[in-house]
Amino acid sequence: MIRVEELTKDYGSRRALHGLTFEARQGEVVGFLGPNGAGKTTTMRILTSYMPPTSGEAIVAGYNVVSESLEVRKRVGYLPETVPLYTDMVVFDYLKFMADLRHLPNADERVGETLEMVGLLDRANGYIGALSKGMRQRIGLAQALLHRPEVLILDEPTIGLDPGQVVEIRHLIREIGKERTVLLSTHILSEAQQICDRVLIINKGRIVVEDTPENLQSRLVGAERVILRVGGDSDGLAPRIEKVKGVQQVKSNPDGSLEFQFLPAQDVRQQVAKTVIEAGYDLIEMRAVGLSLEEIFLELTKEEEPDKKKKARS
Ligand SMILES: Nc1ncnc2c1ncn2[C@@H]1O[C@H](COP(=O)(O)OP(=O)(O)O)[C@@H](O)[C@H]1O
Ligand SMILES: [Mg+2]
Repeated sequence: MIRVEELTKDYGSRRALHGLTFEARQGEVVGFLGPNGAGKTTTMRILTSYMPPTSGEAIVAGYNVVSESLEVRKRVGYLPETVPLYTDMVVFDYLKFMADLRHLPNADERVGETLEMVGLLDRANGYIGALSKGMRQRIGLAQALLHRPEVLILDEPTIGLDPGQVVEIRHLIREIGKERTVLLSTHILSEAQQICDRVLIINKGRIVVEDTPENLQSRLVGAERVILRVGGDSDGLAPRIEKVKGVQQVKSNPDGSLEFQFLPAQDVRQQVAKTVIEAGYDLIEMRAVGLSLEEIFLELTKEEEPDKKKKARS
């Protein structure tokens, strides 16, 4: 269980987190989705008691990350953004060393079981330096799982992996997540949708969207936003438009126009136009203004892949 309330973090005079509030329950895989600099790593470092927040409260596995940090560390497994691995160590020895640091009983046995969990048993006697990036990520995961933590915090667990390895790691995380609380960060929308039960979109230190992957899918790919303008007064029109089947979220803008959404599979524009005219209003304008949530996500990720965009244009 993770419970975060009004978490803020300042680096000097720069505020990196602006009052984050969210929860993650046991048996739930929650995705932290956002571009570089959004505050994902900062939040995760606070949740793992590596660094205190400036204000706000975080309870992890029932303990306060500031005043009960030792208890938190016993119950949390952390895969940092860059896994600090000793490349000249043998896989088994490295994990044994980590298990000893945690004073785990029956360390040899525990390491063996953990290697089996992450599918690395056959590499136990190999050097870390000789392993692929995907295999090293598994060692990082093994290290995070050694003490069988209630809560797992995984910072960009699939970054730098090839597509085959990504599929394997995702599958592994889903398995592990069945009995634990998992918070993982990613900047890839499709990844969040594939692994997570719930997605929190974070941007510039704020959670801007929270939803299930299914809803996100329909909202992101789906809802088209339309602006509608009538001559004179639009009083009484909104409730009529609301009644049209497939219309979502009708609202009045300060400039007097109305706005609503619909799913592309169910184009309601003709029916709305008919409704407006039959109700005796003059329809002056009806125009699509793009995908509201997709706009948010594009806004979130547009600093992310300038190279790709350039390539796509040329
Ligand atoms: N140690 C630090 N000192 C100063 N600023 C930092 C430090 N770590 C992160 N930041 C800033 O805080 C913001 C959030 O960063 P981070 O949590 O690493 O985001 P993310 O993991 O989502 O990419 C960024 O603006 C980043 O530049
Ligand atoms: Mg990060």
